[in-house]
Formats: sequence, C-alpha cells, structure tokens
Amino acid sequence: MNPAPPSFESLPLPAGFSLARDHQGRLCLFDSREGAAGPLCVDFLAGASGWRLRDLGRSDLLPRAVGLKSARPPRTLLDATAGLGHDAASLALLGLEVTALEVSPVVFALLQDGLARASASGQELGRRLAQRLTPRCAEARAFLRLSAAERGITPDVVYLDPMFPDKRKAARSRKEMQHLQGLLPPPSAAELSELMTLALGAAAQRVVVKRPLHAPEIVENPPPSHSHKGKSVRFDVYLVTSARPR
Ligand SMILES: C[S@@+](CC[C@H](N)C(=O)[O-])C[C@H]1O[C@@H](n2cnc3c(N)ncnc32)[C@H](O)[C@@H]1O
Repeated sequence: MNPAPPSFESLPLPAGFSLARDHQGRLCLFDSREGAAGPLCVDFLAGASGWRLRDLGRSDLLPRAVGLKSARPPRTLLDATAGLGHDAASLALLGLEVTALEVSPVVFALLQDGLARASASGQELGRRLAQRLTPRCAEARAFLRLSAAERGITPDVVYLDPMFPDKRKAARSRKEMQHLQGLLPPPSAAELSELMTLALGAAAQRVVVKRPLHAPEIVENPPPSHSHKGKSVRFDVYLVTSARPR
C-alpha cells in the first residue's frame, strides 16, 4: 500500500509555480512564467502515459537494459531518480518490485498523487502499481549511504535518470524537463560521480543509466559494459561483476 497523499498546500515553491487540483481532481503543478509549459500532473491511467504503460513489453529498450530478458532476471529495482515515475511504473508493471526515490517534495507529491488515484480507481493497473511500486521522498546519495538493513532493500538493479542540461527531443520530455528544471538545478558532475559510485556499491546485478543518445557517459570511469540505443535515448548498462547472492 502506498501512504496517503501528503498535504500539498504547505510545500515550498519557487516564484511563479503553484500546486492545485484540476477539474479531474488531479494534483497539478502550474507554471505562470512567460512561455511556460501547461500544467503538469501524473496520470498513470489516461493520456500518453497510460497508453505507454499498457503498451510496454519485456523486449523494449528499458526492460532489456535492466535485464528482464537475461538468464537471471532481476526481482528488485531501486529507481534512484524517479521524477514523475513513468519508468518506475513501467518496470513495476512488468513484475519488478520497485522502490522509487524522488528528492523534490513537489515532484514527489505529484507522483504520490498519481499513484493514489491509480490505486483508488479500482482498475487492475492501479492495483498492480500499488502492490509493486513504493515511492519515497529521499535524496538518493543519502539513501544509498545507509546500510542495506537501514534501507530495507538490496536492489538487484539501481536505475538512474538524473536531470541533464541537454535538450531532449521528445515533446513529453521537453515539457516535463522544463518544469523539473524550473524546480531543481541539474546535479553537478561531482554529485553524479558520487551517485554512480554509491549505486555500483548497492546494486547486486547492475546499474542502468538513461542518457540522451549522443551525450557522454555519466562518468568517465568505469565505462559501461554495454548500451541499448533508441532513436533519442540510450541506456548504459554497468554490470556488477562480483554478483552477490540474493
Ligand atoms: C529526468 S527526471 C526522471 C524521470 C523519470 N525517469 C520518469 O520516468 O519520469 C529526474 C528526477 O530525478 C530527481 N533527482 C535528481 N537528483 C536526485 C537525487 N540525488 N536523489 C533523488 N532524486 C533526484 C529530480 O528531482 C527529477 O525529478
């Protein structure tokens, strides 16, 4: 069960941003700055996101990158930079037990609201998400520094999709990135390097990093074991050689 949605009225927001429910009862982030994108909310049941979730298969890029087609498929995944939870939800619906971390309380409120509404809908998809996707408002490096016992999870896979200053091509990403970049600065190279080191130390099987297709790797060392390339993004896979028993 996901915890009850938080009270959003008290969340601190930068100038020009506000949170309110739309006519469908969805919690949305509004950006009143000149030229800003329309409201942003999480809806796992409808629109492009709902369609994408229902359409995803194990042979798609991200499921393949996390190892769902491998001889020893993962069981647990830590999405350390969950954002609005599209990737986390996709992987949970494919059967993984997903813990999703998000550092921004505002983005976390949108994610938790989307999950709560999906769960309350009575639809099968919402029931499955509530069973397999656990959101937590936490900073990933602080979380990964905790011992496995304190974290309560030894993830087979750690997945990273941090924000990058790069321009992404997809319209959905552009709109979301515009909102997210307005709320939070992208992490520094030093933060990404520390995040990667901690992720490699915590993952039992592999770390997977989402990158724009032609962008450099998240860190210079180590190089990825291999990559899965799409039209605009790629997933760099870092296999953890000393695979620990589950
Ligand atoms: C590009 S978005 C992730 C999109 C996500 N993969 C999806 O499918 O919706 C990156 C998110 O990571 C969060 N983030 C960045 N650094 C973080 C950190 N150190 N700990 C937790 N969350 C972080 C940002 O707040 C942002 O919401």
